[in-house]
Amino acid sequence: MKLSLTLLFSFTLIFAACSGGGSGEESQASSENQQEEGLSDFELEHGIGPVTEVVELGELDPELAAEGKKVFEAKCTACHKPTERYIGPASGEILDRRSATYAMNMIMNPDEMTKKHPEGKKMMQEYMSPMPYQNVSIEQARAIVEYFRTIEMPNEEETNQ
Ligand code: HEC
Repeated sequence: MKLSLTLLFSFTLIFAACSGGGSGEESQASSENQQEEGLSDFELEHGIGPVTEVVELGELDPELAAEGKKVFEAKCTACHKPTERYIGPASGEILDRRSATYAMNMIMNPDEMTKKHPEGKKMMQEYMSPMPYQNVSIEQARAIVEYFRTIEMPNEEETNQ
């Protein structure tokens, strides 16, 4: 008897937990979001790709930035200029709208990013030219992001005045 009462009590608890209202609206909204794009909240903010944890940027590392600049000049300048729009967007403005993690995922996984990510799809519509996969390693992508941090956009100075 004691046992079945305990059981009954826990069933009631489970039932209440499952059917409980309150936070329903919020969780429904986020699951709709996920269904729409098939992406997690992390992916929506930081992109789809090999980087699955937020990359924290510490103090600027000039050596790493110099390394990134080299890779950028070898692999990216056909389409990107540091401070001007070209075939793709100006590199210096990317970190103003994207997290470092997002930028790294875009660099390493441009195909999926422009096909599945809402922001990537928008960029593709705007620039109407796909960014190619270029076999950039995670270390190189991190270095490129460090280089991006050193680029000053001319209009950023204007708005500061
Ligand atoms: C053949 C041209 C081309 C090359 C080469 C190229 N990109 Fe791109 N990139 C683009 C285009 C075009 C876009 C805009 C999205 C799209 O249409 O695919 C873009 C978008 C990006 C974005 C996302 C910007 C944003 O705000 O979302 C990043 C980051 C980026 N490129 C970095 C790089 C880096 C780093 C390299 C070199 C390893 C590189 N790209 C090489 C054309 C190129």
